[in-house]
Amino acid sequence: MTALYVERYLNYGISLEELQSSRPIIGIAQTGSDLVPCNRHHIELAKRVREGIRDAGGIAIEFPVHPIQETGKRPTAGLDRNLSYLSLVESIYGYPMDGVVLTIGCDKTTPACLMAAATVNIPAIALSVGPMLNGWFKGERTGSGTIVWKAREMLAAGQIDYKGFVELVASSAPSTGWCNTMGTATTMNSLCEALGMSLPGSAAIPAPYRDRQENAYRTGLRIVEMVDADRKPSDILTRQAFLNAIRVNSAIGGSTNAPIHLNAIARHIGVDLTLADWEEQGADVPLIVNLQPAGTYLAEDFYRAGGVPAVMGQLLRAGLIDGSVLTANGQTLADNVGTADTTDSDVIRPLGDPLKASAGLTVLSGNLFDHAVMKLSVISPDFRARYLSDPDDPEAFEGTAIVFDGPEDYHARIDDPALGADERSILIMRGAGPIGYPGGAEVVNMRPPSALIQAGIHALPCLGDGRQSGTSGSPSILNAAPEAAVGGGLALVRTGDRIRIDLRRRTADMQVPAEELARRRAALQGPPGYMPPAQTPWQEIHRNITGQFEGGAVIELAVKYQRIAQTR
Ligand code: FES
Ligand code: MG
Repeated sequence: MTALYVERYLNYGISLEELQSSRPIIGIAQTGSDLVPCNRHHIELAKRVREGIRDAGGIAIEFPVHPIQETGKRPTAGLDRNLSYLSLVESIYGYPMDGVVLTIGCDKTTPACLMAAATVNIPAIALSVGPMLNGWFKGERTGSGTIVWKAREMLAAGQIDYKGFVELVASSAPSTGWCNTMGTATTMNSLCEALGMSLPGSAAIPAPYRDRQENAYRTGLRIVEMVDADRKPSDILTRQAFLNAIRVNSAIGGSTNAPIHLNAIARHIGVDLTLADWEEQGADVPLIVNLQPAGTYLAEDFYRAGGVPAVMGQLLRAGLIDGSVLTANGQTLADNVGTADTTDSDVIRPLGDPLKASAGLTVLSGNLFDHAVMKLSVISPDFRARYLSDPDDPEAFEGTAIVFDGPEDYHARIDDPALGADERSILIMRGAGPIGYPGGAEVVNMRPPSALIQAGIHALPCLGDGRQSGTSGSPSILNAAPEAAVGGGLALVRTGDRIRIDLRRRTADMQVPAEELARRRAALQGPPGYMPPAQTPWQEIHRNITGQFEGGAVIELAVKYQRIAQTR
C-alpha cells in the first residue's frame, strides 16, 4: 500500500508493518447480503477467499457492492445493473486496491461486476457463488423459474390452487445459490468461465458443496499471483474470448439476456461485438447441455457431468473455439480444457448426438424494430407443428396482433373475454424496454388467456421490446430495439394488425401500408402513454443516459472511460 494511504487505514485494525509491507491489497467486492439471497453464501465464501489471499501474501479488504436481486428489485433488476456498475467503478478506482475478487451469481451481479472490472482494468478474478441444489417434487426435477411458468399455466387451467402453486414453486429452491436451471445466472456464470475470468471448472459447482469452499480459497490464492504478474482483464477479454463465449452460449442453450450483457462487457473493455457476431458465430453450434428450460436436467447434474470444461473441451476438439486465449489461471484455454469431456452423456451430450443441431439466436428486423432476437433452441415440436408447418413456407407464419402497453396492462386484460384472442393471435408487449420500463422488464413470455390454455393451447407467439427470464422456454421475439418508448416501430402497431414473421428471411413486419404507418407516426405526440413517470431520481437519470438492448443497454457516456486504472 502506498504511503499516502497508510494513515487512512490504521483504524482498519491491521498493523503499520502490514500496511507498509508493500503486500498487495486485494478487494473482495461483496455482492451478497440479506437483500440478495441468491448471492448471500458469498458472505461465507469470502472467509475462504481471505484465507487464500492471506496465504498467498496479500491483504484482503472486503467491501459492499450495490445489491441486485433478480426477483426482489422493483421495477426491474435490470435498472440496477448500470447503477451497480457505476458504484463499483468508483470503489475499485477510487480506493487503494491492487486487484479485486468479484463475487458473482444472481443474474445482473455478474455483468455489473465484469463491466466494472473492464472499465477499471486492474487484475480481477470472478468467484461464482454456485447454483442451488436440484429441486424435486413428487420424484420429478423442479427447476427455478421454469417451474413458475409451468405452475402459472396449471393455475390458469384450474389444475392446482394457489397453495399448490406455492408448494410447487418452493420445491424448486431447496438451498442457497442461484437458479438451478440454465437461466441467466447459470448462463452468465458459465460465460464468465468461458471468457476466462474465473478459474476453470468453477462455474457449475453447486453453492453448498465442499468444492465451492475450496474454489473460493483457490480464487483468493490466484488473485495475488495475478497482481504479481500484472494480469489484467484486457489480457483476457479479447475479441476471440467473446467469440468463444458466444459459441459456448449456443452449446449450453444460454439465456436471451446473454447478448445484452456480453455486448455491454465488450463495450467497456473496448472490444467490437455486435448482434451480427451472435448470429454468425452462434448459429452452427449444436445444443449439447440438457438442462431446463430447453432440456431435462438441473445444475447438480451439470456439475456432475463435467460443467463448462466438458462443453468447451468438446468444442475445442471440434475446432469450434480458439484454445489460444489466456485465462485467469495463467494458462491458455487449451491447457485448461484440452482433454475435458462429458462424464454423463445424457446431461452433457457428445457433439455428435446433440439435443438440437444448431442452437444460436436469430436476429430479426423489419418495420416493427431494427433488431430483435429469438432463441431457436426453445422452439418446441408443438409450437413448430402449430405455426411453422406450412409446406410451402415452413419458416413463416402470420397472426393478428393483440397489443399490451406494459405488464400491468397485460395482467389486467389477458383473461378478459373482450380480448378476442384465438390460436392465430400474436401477443405483443411494448413499453417494457430499457427506457420505457426502466431497466427493461422480463415480461415478453406471456401466457395465453386461461380459456385458450383450457382448450389446449399452451403457447402463443410473443413479441416485444422487453426481455424475458432465461428460465423461460418460450420462443419469443424479444429485446426489440429501438423500443416503443423511444419511437421504434412497436409504437405504431395496433391490435388487429396482421403480423408476418419469416424466420428464413429473418423479418418481422406489420402488414400495414407505409402511408398508414406515416399517419400513425404523425399522430404520436408527447411522452408515450406506455412510459410511466419515473418514481426515483435514478430511474430518471437512467432514462437519460442508457442506450438500447442491442448495444448492451450501457450508460453510453461511460464507454469512453476505458482502462482507467492505467491513468491513476
Ligand atoms: Fe437470483 Fe435466479 S433469481 S439467480
Ligand atoms: Mg432473470
